[in-house]
Amino acid sequence: MNGDVHKIIEEALPLVVPSEEEIRKAKDAEMELRRRLDEVLKNYPHLEYRFLGSYARNTWLKGNLEIDIFILFPEDTPKEELERIGLEIGKSVVDEYELRYAAHPYVHGIVKGVEVDVVPCYKLKSAEKIKSAVDRTPFHHDWLKDRIRGKENDVRLLKKFLKVAGIYGAEYKVRGFSGYLCELLIVFYGSFLEVIRNATEWTRNTVIDVPAGKVYRRKGEFFVVDPVDPKRNVAANLSLDNLAKFVQICREFLKRPSLDYFVEREPEIPSDEIIAEEIESRGTGLCAVVFKKPDIVEDNLYPQLEKACRRINDFLRRENFLPLRAGYFANESKCVLMFETQVGELARIRRHEGPPFEEEEHVERFLKKERKYKPFIEGGKFWVYVERKNWKVEDAISDLIRRDWRSMGKNVGEKLKEGFDVLTGKDVLKVEGREFRKFLVEFLCLK
Ligand code: UTP
Ligand code: MN
Ligand code: MN
Ligand code: MN
Repeated sequence: MNGDVHKIIEEALPLVVPSEEEIRKAKDAEMELRRRLDEVLKNYPHLEYRFLGSYARNTWLKGNLEIDIFILFPEDTPKEELERIGLEIGKSVVDEYELRYAAHPYVHGIVKGVEVDVVPCYKLKSAEKIKSAVDRTPFHHDWLKDRIRGKENDVRLLKKFLKVAGIYGAEYKVRGFSGYLCELLIVFYGSFLEVIRNATEWTRNTVIDVPAGKVYRRKGEFFVVDPVDPKRNVAANLSLDNLAKFVQICREFLKRPSLDYFVEREPEIPSDEIIAEEIESRGTGLCAVVFKKPDIVEDNLYPQLEKACRRINDFLRRENFLPLRAGYFANESKCVLMFETQVGELARIRRHEGPPFEEEEHVERFLKKERKYKPFIEGGKFWVYVERKNWKVEDAISDLIRRDWRSMGKNVGEKLKEGFDVLTGKDVLKVEGREFRKFLVEFLCLK
């Protein structure tokens, strides 16, 4: 399905622009919400509410409607009071709710079948003096609202393009592009197509200085200057690898434009037999550390999984298992840390370094030790073979976790201390579920 880029964009529009019915449903929910908010805020005359986020700017993606309401508190409100009253108001205006956590806890709920976030924040004079990240939101909205007019569908195209690529959202699980970043890019470059064209030239040192209207390079990180707070990088949560992924799909899209870039598809997953055969035949060490998921929010969980993964992988490198890749996965109940190494089983012995021959006393002490093997000299130094404690990669990992769980993130570490399983080779397929298979196929780089 290739073709002219303008034609493809035209064809993609119906996939990203909400239907009349969705818009009507949203308006209904908005009116109901305004009624309820006006009513409950009679009891709190010092507070006000605002509709912000993508609904308020008409930039939400078809099928992903969610209304963001912010309750603005005076600057001198104690944090406890803001949180308590914020939740009270949130709960009282939605039909059903759950608590979610960002800068503060907030209410996520449903009103007339529409998803709603009710988020408390401080009402401030300037975005440079914010107390928490959500306090910037009213400033973001004020900056965007006139500038984005007429470009709403370009925002939607960009969001969809990113979503299909798996890099829409700034949350830790994704580490991609936030909605606000998408809107800024559209304002800065003028259209979806111009964002895509310009992105092909981005580097890890690119700075997009939105308030100055300039792009330049500066050693450090990919940086998008927040026009309401120039010290803030709007792309701070975008990982280097997801930046690279985006640049590459932009190049590919321009070379071979296709509607496929706007259609979410479930990937085809090879059967367990085929995956097992591949695992057996590649001769690597493959280990999955499986343990109970701690009961914490994703933005807390994923950094901990990453840390645990890195600790173990660094250890495998030091111990000469020659790691290929490491990764992590979580579902509702379980977490998995995955490691693939070029060596699954090392020799039973390793060489242990001793002193140079000139240091007589050290040499004497080294040679007096009771050992299985006779020391030898090489490069003017004494060496000796010692028996390795763990020669199998799975034993080495288990041993490390039992000794060093404290360094693997607070909650993840505690769960690992309570217990874990290590599955090896094709046994990693004992972890159930399609989501895990999607992860595994990516991890193993299977086509
Ligand atoms: P959203 O995540 O709802 O983004 O946050 P959005 O721009 O509306 O995009 P989509 O279409 O829903 O995906 C709305 C605003 O609320 C603040 C951010 O400033 C964001 O711009 N916010 C919201 C947070 O800072 N943290 C949160 O957890 C939620
Ligand atoms: Mn939103
Ligand atoms: Mn959202
Ligand atoms: Mn939201």
